[in-house]
Amino acid sequence: MPKIVFVSSDGSEETVAVDAGTSIMSAAQQHGIEGIVADCGGSCSCATCHVYVEQELADRFDPVGQFEDELLDTTACERLCNSRLSCQLVMGDHVDGVRVEIPESQM
Ligand code: FES
Repeated sequence: MPKIVFVSSDGSEETVAVDAGTSIMSAAQQHGIEGIVADCGGSCSCATCHVYVEQELADRFDPVGQFEDELLDTTACERLCNSRLSCQLVMGDHVDGVRVEIPESQM
């Protein structure tokens, strides 16, 4: 099972293992990770599941889609070059061990 390292805005880390095919947003909810609100439940329409993805693995995920790109311009915290919406990031062995930072605020 691929692992995700969640890094909170206070610097604390939590590692979870998930089934391949699970989105990072769903993984956070399943494991009680705080800071990912996910208001829309993963339908790419709220921008409250914003994360910063470890640069070295960021390109292994599917590229940013049009709706995601538009929503990333509306995030509560600054959009950076490694900003993604975690509901659009699907886990698999190709991104095993990826580190994702959770921004300080989602709203
Ligand atoms: S959960 Fe709403 S955009 Fe990701």
